[in-house]
Amino acid sequence: MPALIIGSGYGGAVTALRLAQAGIDCHIVEMGRDWTTPGSDGRIFTQTASPDQRGFWLRDRTKQPVSHFLGVSIDRNISKYTGILDAENMGAIHVYQGRGVGGGSLVNGGMAVTPKRSWFEQILPSVDANEMYNTFYPRANATLGVNNIDPAWFDSTEWYQFSRVGRKVAQRSGFATTFVPNVYDFNYMKQEAAGTVTKSALAGEVIFGNHHGKKSLPVTYLGQAAATGKVTISPLHRVTKVAPAAGSGYTVDIEQINETGGVVATKSVTADKVFFAAGSVGTSKLLVSMKAQGHLPNLAGAVGQEWGTNGNVMVARANHAWDTTGKNQSSIPTMGIDAWDTNGVFAEIAPFPAGAELWVSLYLAITKNPERASFQYNSSTGGVGLSWNQAQAQKSIDLAKVVFDKINKKEVTVYRSDMFGSNKVWNEGLTYHPLGGAVLNKATDNFGRLHGYPGLYVMDGALVPGNVGVNPFVTITALAERNIASIIASDL
Ligand code: FDA
Repeated sequence: MPALIIGSGYGGAVTALRLAQAGIDCHIVEMGRDWTTPGSDGRIFTQTASPDQRGFWLRDRTKQPVSHFLGVSIDRNISKYTGILDAENMGAIHVYQGRGVGGGSLVNGGMAVTPKRSWFEQILPSVDANEMYNTFYPRANATLGVNNIDPAWFDSTEWYQFSRVGRKVAQRSGFATTFVPNVYDFNYMKQEAAGTVTKSALAGEVIFGNHHGKKSLPVTYLGQAAATGKVTISPLHRVTKVAPAAGSGYTVDIEQINETGGVVATKSVTADKVFFAAGSVGTSKLLVSMKAQGHLPNLAGAVGQEWGTNGNVMVARANHAWDTTGKNQSSIPTMGIDAWDTNGVFAEIAPFPAGAELWVSLYLAITKNPERASFQYNSSTGGVGLSWNQAQAQKSIDLAKVVFDKINKKEVTVYRSDMFGSNKVWNEGLTYHPLGGAVLNKATDNFGRLHGYPGLYVMDGALVPGNVGVNPFVTITALAERNIASIIASDL
């Protein structure tokens, strides 16, 4: 086949659409399910409040990002299933990722943020920023269907009271706040509030999938790609090996799995071009193990390096009894505290849609944490580990603490210490934003071509070195747009 794409998240979806439009047939191999078929309860996705097996990727116990309430664990046993959200245990950190046709777009908060140009120029100095900000960011935003909340509605609806409280206290401490664009359709959300359509964001749906309202990749890039008739997708197929084929091209070994994760068939195909778009962790693990096992021995030494968490750390504050955050909260965040230039913190004011008044302000902070880790192949287990250790997350806590200590002092409020464990204020044990592992212009050339292997490319979050300063998917999409344009022009 002409082109095989590993993974159907942002990098993979952009690659498929643009290759297809250039007349090239391509095939996407995706290890997760195709999330289009309802279960026996009539729902495609599980309930947010009490997720069943559909919520998690091959786990026998849920692993909720906000794991406790009043210090008591809310996790419970489930049966192993190829569910939508992977809380992948990489030693000292759980890396959350979407699994299914659409990758992270199935589970994320939809926050579609273009980073500050000055920071982008620092992290990816080899990329022409003019081109990115004039052509590829606009192209990504347009194709992703990014839209903005109506500020007047934001100011009046009960569903964003939690955000308004977050904005008020941040501003009173001298921090700027900013509206954050999203791929959730805010017109649909208004109709949800009016009671004229089925609720999704206003029914708490987000990290286990949205039945309505969200422009995830299956309705944007992948939908357009499918409409060309030149793209096919194999869900529940996992790539295990890529190696040069006899003659030309690459042999790709694939395991077909069932919905409980069992291998039902193994397959081998040959492709002229192979695009790694398995996400930062997925692509890094594949490349590091192919290099170590001698299948792709000439990959650059930079493969597996410069991985970071985007400085992610979660924290919650307790508001005063009169500062109600509302029992009704939209699951879609739409405001951030922008203290990046002053404090190295961009904090999303996150909802906690529990259906009851809890006086909680929850935040997911992105911090300027310079710590990086690397992936290593373990020859005794055949697996790939990550060197990240807990001490490396301390910098994220330190940066975020300056901001939230100041707010607490001004408001005379305290941190909640009952939501991430018993007596635990910071949740530094997870990331939603894994980045790096096959960094642009180091592990690859300046357009994602892997050194040493013509016809092998990296197209996903692995290209971005560890920290993009804001939520990452718009940058991953825009960079993929830029790289595939160059690859189509020169290599095909
Ligand atoms: P992505 O992870 O999207 O896709 C990779 C795909 O490859 C997956 O579908 C995976 O199953 C598949 N795969 C992996 N290994 C494979 C193999 N060996 N064979 C076959 N397939 C394989 N970002 C943002 O900008 N705004 C936001 O609001 C949020 N919110 C958010 C919430 C939550 C809960 C999560 C988990 C994440 C976010 N994110 C986010 C992060 C965002 O979703 C993430 O950065 C992108 O999805 C990464 O895009 P990629 O294309 O790199 O990989």
